Amino acid sequence: MHLSGPLSGKWTVTSLGLLSILSTVFTPAVAVKEHDFKKCHQSGFCSRNRAFADHALAASSWQSPYTILPESGAFKDGQYQATILKTINDQGETVRLPITISFLESGTGRVTVDEEKRQKGEIELRHNSKARKERYNEAEKWVIVGGLGLDKKAKVESQDKTQLTVKYGPSSNFEAIIKFSPFSIDFKRDGISQIKFNDQGLLNIEHWRPKIEKAPEPEPEKKEGEETTEGEQKEEEKKEEPQGVDESTLWEETFGGNTDSKPRGPESIGLDISFVGFEHVFGIPSHASSLSLKQTRGGEGNYEEPYRLYNADVFEYILDSPMTLYGAIPFMQAHRKGSSVGVFWLNAAETWVDVVKAKDSKNPLALGLGSKTTTRTHWMSESGLLDVFVFLGPTPKDVVTKYAELTGTTTMPQEFALGYHQCRWNYVSDEDVKDVDRKMDKFKMPYDVIWLDIEYTDEKKYFTWDQHSFKDPIGMGEQLANHGRQLVTIIDPHIKNVDNYPVVAELKSKELAVKNKEGSIFEGWCWPGSSHWIDAFNPKAREWWASLFKYTSFKGTRENTWIWNDMNEPSVFNGPEVTMPKDNLHDGNWEHRDVHNLNGMTFNNATFHALKSRKPGELRRPFVLTRAFFAGSQRIGAMWTGDNMAEWGHLKASFPMVLSQGISGYPFSGADVGGFFGNPDKDLLTRWYQAGIFYPFFRGHAHIDARRREPYLMGEPYNTIIAAALRLRYSLLPSWYTAFHQAHVDGTPIIKPMFYTHPSEEGGLAIDDQFFVGNTGLLAKPVTEQDKESVDIWIPDNEVYYDYFTYNIIPTSKGKSVTIDAPMDKIPLLMQGGHIFARRDIPRRSSTLMKWDDYTLVVSVSKDGKHAEGDLYVDDGDSYDFEKGQYINRKFVFDGSAKTIVSIDAEGRETKSIKEGEWLKKMHGVSVDKIIVVGAPASLAGKKEVSVESGGKSWSASVEYNAAASSGRAAFAVIKKVAAPVGADFKINFA
Ligand code: NOJ
Repeated sequence: MHLSGPLSGKWTVTSLGLLSILSTVFTPAVAVKEHDFKKCHQSGFCSRNRAFADHALAASSWQSPYTILPESGAFKDGQYQATILKTINDQGETVRLPITISFLESGTGRVTVDEEKRQKGEIELRHNSKARKERYNEAEKWVIVGGLGLDKKAKVESQDKTQLTVKYGPSSNFEAIIKFSPFSIDFKRDGISQIKFNDQGLLNIEHWRPKIEKAPEPEPEKKEGEETTEGEQKEEEKKEEPQGVDESTLWEETFGGNTDSKPRGPESIGLDISFVGFEHVFGIPSHASSLSLKQTRGGEGNYEEPYRLYNADVFEYILDSPMTLYGAIPFMQAHRKGSSVGVFWLNAAETWVDVVKAKDSKNPLALGLGSKTTTRTHWMSESGLLDVFVFLGPTPKDVVTKYAELTGTTTMPQEFALGYHQCRWNYVSDEDVKDVDRKMDKFKMPYDVIWLDIEYTDEKKYFTWDQHSFKDPIGMGEQLANHGRQLVTIIDPHIKNVDNYPVVAELKSKELAVKNKEGSIFEGWCWPGSSHWIDAFNPKAREWWASLFKYTSFKGTRENTWIWNDMNEPSVFNGPEVTMPKDNLHDGNWEHRDVHNLNGMTFNNATFHALKSRKPGELRRPFVLTRAFFAGSQRIGAMWTGDNMAEWGHLKASFPMVLSQGISGYPFSGADVGGFFGNPDKDLLTRWYQAGIFYPFFRGHAHIDARRREPYLMGEPYNTIIAAALRLRYSLLPSWYTAFHQAHVDGTPIIKPMFYTHPSEEGGLAIDDQFFVGNTGLLAKPVTEQDKESVDIWIPDNEVYYDYFTYNIIPTSKGKSVTIDAPMDKIPLLMQGGHIFARRDIPRRSSTLMKWDDYTLVVSVSKDGKHAEGDLYVDDGDSYDFEKGQYINRKFVFDGSAKTIVSIDAEGRETKSIKEGEWLKKMHGVSVDKIIVVGAPASLAGKKEVSVESGGKSWSASVEYNAAASSGRAAFAVIKKVAAPVGADFKINFA
């Protein structure tokens, strides 16, 4: 093998030769032990809320016991505040629940309900717990980063004794009709109901109450043979509240041998949220389920269990299940033709969501014909405030971007992070790492990052190295750097509880760890055995954490070392449901119960900030991968879908999961390529690479017991096929980066499902196995089934579609599927007419080495032959200088009528107005050098050259025109030696 210069990374073509490989017989793995995790009936508050719902829905006369006291209400500056009274017994006793309804400038509504402290009924904490006596109210502090400005223009439209109507929103076309008794809200857009709260009367706020220790009741004296009368029985039942509730779990709950002491007793919240006229709801990741959520109350094809959100280490997870996984985003959007709306349930406690769809037929004789489906959801959280944001759309993009305004957008990543990541548990030594690095080069497989799992440490003590296997981590890092590559090392939140380990000694002496219910340091088991957990909710703990990552502290790391945060749900091997006891205590004496789903994000956040402060003056974007996440984690780094399996089903399931992340504000996601557990056969691994190039986060990973499966071990023809897939990812990196930038700007997804791109096409709303990449018009449908040699791609519109590789015009028809051949060496990828996207076509070893390469633009001309446009965003891919204007953001327009292709600044900035830093200056030497026009207009036929104008100069570029072929290939032209500076305006004239 021959490289044309030590740092050029440019490959020349040599024959690869065959490599004998390890046999890859597939060993099936065992699926997750479902019974290790709770079902709704095993979770006290879930079963109580479901029972409450059953009771309410069965009783024809059910009336929700929640009423707004009209005289308590006041509307001021875009906010309505009042008190809800909850009647808690037949004696009419009530508890007071302050409610605030805020109308935000963005058009988002917010409903917050708290519980007033009472003298009578003031809870007393049990079991010596130091837990805080307040409903958890700090989720906002971690999650919300903007968009809370109140809409001063919102106004009360009408009010009487029964209700209040507020008009709000960008064009005052949103309405909230707040009914007082029983309390409910109807959110309308343009006079039409979209979302209703408590329409079914399932609002249930389990108020705090004192625990009445019941003395064992003496048997009532009854004469022999005397039965309890029906009347007596009813009186007994009335005393219970809510009716018929199972009291056994109110004050203590045991599961799998672990007892939760519940020092505050029952305190759950529940609410029904109806999406009126909507058949599809999406979101609430992460679940191994379809993108369009299924019903959860039984029936054919439906789940029996609600979707659960309780971050957990669910390894070898089962597919097609509402079971919880590693991360949670309680954001849901509902969609139908003409309308998209959404809600964000800001609560970090364990949460379950039931989904039921029902036809509401206005005319009973219509037999359901013409009736609309309404999706009714029921949200239940174990503790905390009721705090819900309401988005009224009307487009999917409106919903997603408004959500992003609140919770933030995708972090602008290191550019290398979009390349391929090579991981396994474990690379066994620094020599092993260097060898893989060399082999990837030898087999011409580009990659950017190699990863070290837990075995690199000295006996699972993070921030140390196994001295025998990793003798020279700096040397290893240097070799990687010389090839333009990075290293990621794993650092988990559990700290080994052992003598002579300064990290744990400090954690203890500084009291920065999570505590148990008694307030002493919590001890549990994870990889290292006995461990303690850093409490990243504590600012002092975060400060200390940052100190551990300094290059001078974490010796062996250097500028190209980055971090992987795993097990941060947190995973506690001997804890309830493999996590922390809920009565553990965090900073401020908040119970773990209140913050569980936030925990992983706070740890991940601590690492992110630690990397930012590794060295004074080093202002680089950190790269951190996380397994656990919550709403807001998108601001930090990438996530992956955890411990999947080397099975075709898992490959297929990864796309709905990644798409769901994308439409829920966290698109920087991917699944372990190849499947973590088990051994993929060569076909599966190859198809997984061909699919994985479309994950925003693209990493191959394998379990410690899995056979080695670096892609070059597959032998021919697989090696060549995988290398081609990797190359495709790398050549399209400029377009991926542009899509990430878009996600960074407004929170839009990076790969986009059909409902998102074509919201009016009902046939596409449930499709979750094909997607568009950014705004490129590239429509991909990876092969995810064994022995499949073709795929059916659903076509959403009347545009022309070209095959990416052959430029053949695909015979399509809107709303129909078209079959595309996909033998093993073919990736089904179409180009929708009307787009321009950028590539870098010189094959190199890593993205870093492509930094100064010229660009190719691909123009896929629209069906009418007149139009195409697209963007390219570029910055230094590493620092925060882009925040100071150091970037290039171009818009390219092909105008078939004017016979021009132009490049203009996408934001209309005057190029001269930007004070150029070093990177921008160097970019003067980088050009758009080649333009491929697919569907080329006849005016290019017969031309040998076209004129290029830029910066007041003009020159000519050569043209190679290929007429349309009888095979179906479109006419295409290749314009070469364009030499137009990428950062400047240019115009190509082909008149
Ligand atoms: C669990 C993670 O999900 C997996 O990716 C990793 O290899 C193991 N932990 C070991 O660290």
